[in-house]
Amino acid sequence: MILDVVSIFPEYLAPLDLSLIGKARREGLLDLRVHDLRDFTHDRHHSVDDSPYGGGAGMVMKPQPWAEALAHVAASGAHGARPRLIVPGPGGMPFTQALARELAEEPWLAFACGRYEGIDERVYEYAADELGLEVSVVSLGDYVLNGGEVAVLAMVEAVARLLPGVIGNAESLVEESHEDGLLEYPVYTKPASWESSAGVTRAVPPVLLSGDHGAIAAWRHQQRLERTAARRPDLLHSAAALTTQDLAITAAQPSDAAELTTLQRACWVSEAKANDTHDIPPLVESVDDVAHGLLEWQTWVVREGGRLVASVRARSHPDDPATWQIGRLMVAPDLQGRGLGRALLAHAEAQAPSGTAAYWLNTGTRSDRNLRTYRKAGYRVQPGEGAFPGTVDLLKRRR
Ligand code: ADE
Repeated sequence: MILDVVSIFPEYLAPLDLSLIGKARREGLLDLRVHDLRDFTHDRHHSVDDSPYGGGAGMVMKPQPWAEALAHVAASGAHGARPRLIVPGPGGMPFTQALARELAEEPWLAFACGRYEGIDERVYEYAADELGLEVSVVSLGDYVLNGGEVAVLAMVEAVARLLPGVIGNAESLVEESHEDGLLEYPVYTKPASWESSAGVTRAVPPVLLSGDHGAIAAWRHQQRLERTAARRPDLLHSAAALTTQDLAITAAQPSDAAELTTLQRACWVSEAKANDTHDIPPLVESVDDVAHGLLEWQTWVVREGGRLVASVRARSHPDDPATWQIGRLMVAPDLQGRGLGRALLAHAEAQAPSGTAAYWLNTGTRSDRNLRTYRKAGYRVQPGEGAFPGTVDLLKRRR
């Protein structure tokens, strides 16, 4: 990747000679060229700024040195190639990991580091209209720096580390804050128990020493959710933070029928795939069918941020009141795997009338995920075909 930086303080960019970015430059992965804006001035004082038209505080960067500097940079490309021009400034679009990824796809970036109150607006027009550059004003955050150089250091580092070969361990790029919209989990290293100079001992969370990779992954995911909720709630879709602790389970209303129909279809697609059939009631029922089901069953729903995200229903078996039938246990696909289904199942069991001797469930013969969940919850598969073709029944004695 080619990087050109124009600044009145070229020395400010010296840190880009260090560490992994410096190594990438030496290895030829990055061709970073820093230009002094004052080299494009023609007066004795090498002046780059002047007072603003219309009055106001501070100084504005003059168009002529910038135009010459940018023309010089743009002319350095082979075969009519043009850099994408990034102008750091607090009035720009936010610099995010997504923008870093986008910029990492560009073969050539040029950065124009403004100072003072900014660059004369006609420079932006000139760069776009006469040099044919795509111009993006980009802000590091909602605060004001003295100039664009610090922002360029940050942006170049964030972009360059995404280039192939710059970071040794590509996996570490994936498991990072912001890569998938969540903040990173906390990390620990030896010793497992560490004593501070004040004599306070702090242990590494035991799950990390357990060797149980599934439990470690679940713990880390939970930590990421909790951290994101605490520090950056703006990043979190409200439902994504939903845990079993804050689950509000309420009785379904007739007006929930349409949303339940939608949720059923979303949840039973995987069942259709696993069992190789679309002939499954929850997939094909109409809103009226679902509304009718609400009259025959007790149904509970979970809402998060107004969205219906999970549900279960139950009733006493019509021919055997000692059996409590549980069905339509569903959790929105994006929220599965965090215990909501298990919590809803426990809720449905807890609603059984006092004469109940057993809980009954039914699922597809090949619905491995459901079968695993139900077995874990104490259900046992009954011999023979279940109540519907291609299904099995499961029972759990009430204690
Ligand atoms: N120049 C001054 N403030 C800035 C900011 N917040 N981001 C990028 N460049 C800047």
